[in-house]
Amino acid sequence: MKSFFIQTFGCQMNVHDSQKIKEQLQAEKYTETEDITKADIIIANTCSVRHNPENKVYSFVGRTRRLKEKKKVLLGIAGCVAQQEGNRILKKYPSVDFVFGTDQLFSLPTILQKAEEGIRASYTDWLTTEHNIKEQNFIPTLEKTPVQEVTPGSDPKAMIAIAKGCNNFCSYCIVPYTRGQLISRPLHTIIEEATTLVAQGVKEILLVGQNVNAYKTREHSFYDVLKAVSDIKGLARVRFTSPHPNFWNNELTDLMTDRANIATLLHFPLQSGSDSILKAMFRHHTAAQYKAKVDYLQEKIPNLFLTTDIIVGFPGETLDDFQATLDMIEKVRFWQIYAFKYSPRPGTKSEAMEDSIPLKEKQRRLAALLALQSKIQDEKLDSLVGTKQEILFDSVHPQEKNVIVGTTDHGVRVNVQAPEAYIGEIKNVTISGRKTYSLIGTI
Ligand code: SAH
Ligand code: SF4
Ligand code: F3S
Repeated sequence: MKSFFIQTFGCQMNVHDSQKIKEQLQAEKYTETEDITKADIIIANTCSVRHNPENKVYSFVGRTRRLKEKKKVLLGIAGCVAQQEGNRILKKYPSVDFVFGTDQLFSLPTILQKAEEGIRASYTDWLTTEHNIKEQNFIPTLEKTPVQEVTPGSDPKAMIAIAKGCNNFCSYCIVPYTRGQLISRPLHTIIEEATTLVAQGVKEILLVGQNVNAYKTREHSFYDVLKAVSDIKGLARVRFTSPHPNFWNNELTDLMTDRANIATLLHFPLQSGSDSILKAMFRHHTAAQYKAKVDYLQEKIPNLFLTTDIIVGFPGETLDDFQATLDMIEKVRFWQIYAFKYSPRPGTKSEAMEDSIPLKEKQRRLAALLALQSKIQDEKLDSLVGTKQEILFDSVHPQEKNVIVGTTDHGVRVNVQAPEAYIGEIKNVTISGRKTYSLIGTI
């Protein structure tokens, strides 16, 4: 039997796509291996959102070259760098056998067949909206690839892509170019997939989309999706990522408040606390508008955990602008912040602006932000110690013996000494202590 190895470099959508790659290969009777040296097919599912992740792909290709010298291996590059660079990857890296972009995900069996015949090629065509909805990741697991059954002791979480692409064109962001325009799946196909997953034993569903709450079909909005999915009997938890604050409204907050199975976690990307930077980023909202939505969220859902994304050193960011970001972080008290140094991306609007903040200064701002956040994070985690939480267990601890790992409703990881048979189950756990980013609990 032939085996495959996938390395995922990007966001949740990228993780979702890797899952679909996996399911297609398994349907073609390949088995997954965690050992890259044993694989007959190696696929890198890539990310180009910043310069660094893009670089990682190229060093990965370099490392796999040696494996190819020893045995016959097919090396494929998928995802956002593939979409963006296409043929250029084939030209630059002779060890790469095939390249496929984000709209070609479900053509993998054909692509692979060609590669096995020795045809080196790049597949980056965009599909039409209709084609996308019909043939792409829409109704995927039901018809094209087998839905994975959750057996006792296995991870009970699943992802559903409800929309793909983004029409927002934030000035710094490459995603609209690597993922294409926003395409939303018909609601009934989402419900069908979710219902099937729940019947197979899935307990937690993560709805994904580049801008998940921009979801829009002729009849339905994101509100309808969230409502309908959270209505499914037997579904213990619903999460979604990544929402855009500009598309968030108080009705969505009310829905989260009313539904016990919608997780008390919200990723709410701020990017900057300064109005002039938000404007230059084309985020289409002010800091005050953002804060008003947060205030309503925190008032209605007192135990809500918020996470966010911040970019430091955007072109023209003054010390006052940066201070406005720190002030907002002080006020909101996020539990986690994903903070990045601004990195100009090819083809984006901000690429034309002078990347005016020197690297050293970007690093200084990043460090200052992280120092502030680490105090807030300590406080957030400390607040959970001594409480009782419902933990959904998904895996064994990679190092510690007899320890299994799960998440709170807020998405915080918890390590508990408990039998492996609890994996896939929700249990009441008393939080007895904490580590840097996670908690320790007892059943
Ligand atoms: N759709 C999500 C973001 C996806 S990209 C949203 O709108 O929130 C994930 C994060 O990467 C972004 O939120 C942003 O903080 C960061 N990012 C995107 N482009 C970047 C760039 N050119 N430089 C630095 N960080 C960037
Ligand atoms: Fe990028 Fe903005 Fe779209 Fe998010 S909303 S994917 S940051 S363009
Ligand atoms: Fe990266 Fe593409 Fe996601 S650029 S962040 S993998 S949409």
